[in-house]
Amino acid sequence: MSPLIVLGIDTSCDDTSASVVEKGAKIISNIISNQTEIHKKYGGIVPELASRRHIEMIWPVVDEALQEAGVTFADLSGIAVCHGPGLIGSLLVGCSFAKALCYTKKMPLVAVNHLEGHIFSSFLEDQRPSFPFLALIVSGGHTCLYRVEGFNQYRELGRTRDDAAGEAYDKVSKLLGLGYPGGPIIDNLAKEGNRKAIDFPRAYLPESLDFSFSGLKTAVLHYLKSLIKSKESNSIDNPPIPPLEKGDKGGFTGKMEVEGVKSKRQNLAPGLLYDIAASFQASVVDVLVRKTEWAIKKERIRRLILSGGVAANSELRQRMREMAEERQVEIFIPSVSLCTDNAAMIASAGYHHLKAGNIAGLDLNPKAYLPL
Ligand code: KG4
Ligand code: ZN
Repeated sequence: MSPLIVLGIDTSCDDTSASVVEKGAKIISNIISNQTEIHKKYGGIVPELASRRHIEMIWPVVDEALQEAGVTFADLSGIAVCHGPGLIGSLLVGCSFAKALCYTKKMPLVAVNHLEGHIFSSFLEDQRPSFPFLALIVSGGHTCLYRVEGFNQYRELGRTRDDAAGEAYDKVSKLLGLGYPGGPIIDNLAKEGNRKAIDFPRAYLPESLDFSFSGLKTAVLHYLKSLIKSKESNSIDNPPIPPLEKGDKGGFTGKMEVEGVKSKRQNLAPGLLYDIAASFQASVVDVLVRKTEWAIKKERIRRLILSGGVAANSELRQRMREMAEERQVEIFIPSVSLCTDNAAMIASAGYHHLKAGNIAGLDLNPKAYLPL
């Protein structure tokens, strides 16, 4: 019998997620328990706290996903779990849980690579790509370009040599004292700023489809240090600025936390903060768009998908669409909630594995490093 309904589980990072998906394409339920409140006071994810929270949340989240979908274990064709890459302690929770369920319920287990999941998030929308296509996955842990010929046929064209794009957002946000996760906060601030105000570097790495974002992060750090040092600068001498946007729950303080000069926490003028955010984002987006354009030319391919948490970025979505239109390339960008981590994408990829008979053993072990 062809598999129909798959339960997906993702605990690769700081979201506990379970989802019920029909035929790899129709989301019946997609539950995500977010840990932002736990980690934001540390300015980043604390792995030990993440795995402990997954343990607390995995049953309630799976239970809610089944209830909302109106299905029981007996209705499922199998369980798909993300087994890497990710935080090992977090992955262990999802994998152990899925293995225990498959053992007790006598159900097939399917192992899905998290990056493959991000690729398959594009298949959960009404408009689905056909093969082959180019896939740019930009998240907190990864920035990679793939050529996808078909299911299970992924060729890596490039990847980051250091920080992932989302990691750069999170680190710059921390430097600015803006809270975690940095992506959505900087995205919001950038809308008010001038993207040409500060000429931050763009690491194009000619001759390669690899990426590099750590130099950009360092450039922002140096820029902030130079502001602090310039005594005559009145740009940092303004009174504290209030929280910015209505929806901004990122713990905004308006104060820089530049390493080594923490004792001199300074207030940034709002205008300057917006400009820093916009100029930093311009650098990230310019590189991502330009390199994707190179890949399109090099691979002579006319279809593109964009996914991963950073694909939620408003400027990146718009600029990538404009580039695709100019080059007459078909583009698929999932809705924001499907770009960030979710288990529906794991269930979608899992459905194809199940159909192909790629069943995992109960000795499945998660892997922090797991190339696609
Ligand atoms: O895919 P994801 O949810 O988790 C990983 O697999 O890493 O991506 C999370 C990353 C974080 O670094 C977060 O700051 C970034 O995605 N992000 C954004 C936006 N929303 C989330 N980056 C830029 N703009 C956004 N709107
Ligand atoms: Zn992810």
